[in-house]
Amino acid sequence: MSAFLQEIEGLYAQAMEELAAAQTTASSEAWYAKYLSRKGELTAQLRGLGQLPADEKPAAGKRINEIKNGLSNALQARQATIAQAEMEETLSAEGIDVTLPGRLQQVGKLHPTTVAMNQIIDIFTQMGFEVFDSPEVETDADNFELLNFPPGHPAREMQDSFYTATPDVILRTHTSPGQLHAMRKYAPDPLRVILPGKCYRNEDVTARSEMMFYQVEGLAVGRNITFSDLKGVLFNYANQMYGEGRQIRFRKSYFPFTEPSVEVDVDCILCGGEGCRVCKYSGWLEILGAGMVHPVVLRNGGYDPAVYSGFAFGMGIERQAMLKYSIDDIRYFYDNDARFLARVG
Ligand code: DAH
Repeated sequence: MSAFLQEIEGLYAQAMEELAAAQTTASSEAWYAKYLSRKGELTAQLRGLGQLPADEKPAAGKRINEIKNGLSNALQARQATIAQAEMEETLSAEGIDVTLPGRLQQVGKLHPTTVAMNQIIDIFTQMGFEVFDSPEVETDADNFELLNFPPGHPAREMQDSFYTATPDVILRTHTSPGQLHAMRKYAPDPLRVILPGKCYRNEDVTARSEMMFYQVEGLAVGRNITFSDLKGVLFNYANQMYGEGRQIRFRKSYFPFTEPSVEVDVDCILCGGEGCRVCKYSGWLEILGAGMVHPVVLRNGGYDPAVYSGFAFGMGIERQAMLKYSIDDIRYFYDNDARFLARVG
């Protein structure tokens, strides 16, 4: 082999070795510049071809071309390998590990007040009561006077009001004024409605009282409504809300808008009447107030009390939820603590 060809073969071997060692796109490009570019070493060798004796030229020219092709093919293959490795490296550096466990999503639930309110609404709508919407802002007349609380009546003191900028307009202190709205709408037809909604009282916040809370009012008016109807409806309510076999008890009480008035207890759902801490060893839990609609209120609603009679009841929704789910502080309902909110429903 001529000295010329020997040199070229040596260059070829050296170039192949360096290419195999190139690890990055940049070093493969540097390699191209060094050997194959117009200023590269192989191109320089090609120029030396002219000085060869004529009989060596064809074989040498052929071999140089083979080597050039060999090197460009090797470069292409090497660059493909490098690109693949570089991509894998990027992917593993930035990629997502699909085998990691997912983050648990918190699933929203209905608020315990909403849960209890829905249960109450279900129970009464099954008994034929219709949900009646009534405003949260009332006149003093509808909230008090027409419900038979004259100005200065001591019963007003139990319902300390929030006033608005408009004289005589207050935030309702109970859902009972809704009775008047329902009667005005239906009179003289019979009616059976429940009125769920927010109420407001200017009170100290304690474990037992909030400034804002929910009540459900119930009202039935017709020609032959008796106290027995009230008993039957509330007995059914107690059994559906607190479990089959519940007993209820009526205690005489006083509300200006009912006569007679009662407070209704259910036998303690924790001890079944034996006596425990929750029922304060009485065996009974108070659930609501009720009574026969006072004749004055019937008249204010547009019914002739000589012809019509009615019963009414009112209950705190949070109170029902507290009894049913053994919640001992009403403030939990408004704290938005997710642990409490997840307990019910
Ligand atoms: N409005 C009363 C209150 O807020 C509850 C109540 C008692 C409503 C007796 C009634 C009823 O309809 O008949 O304390």
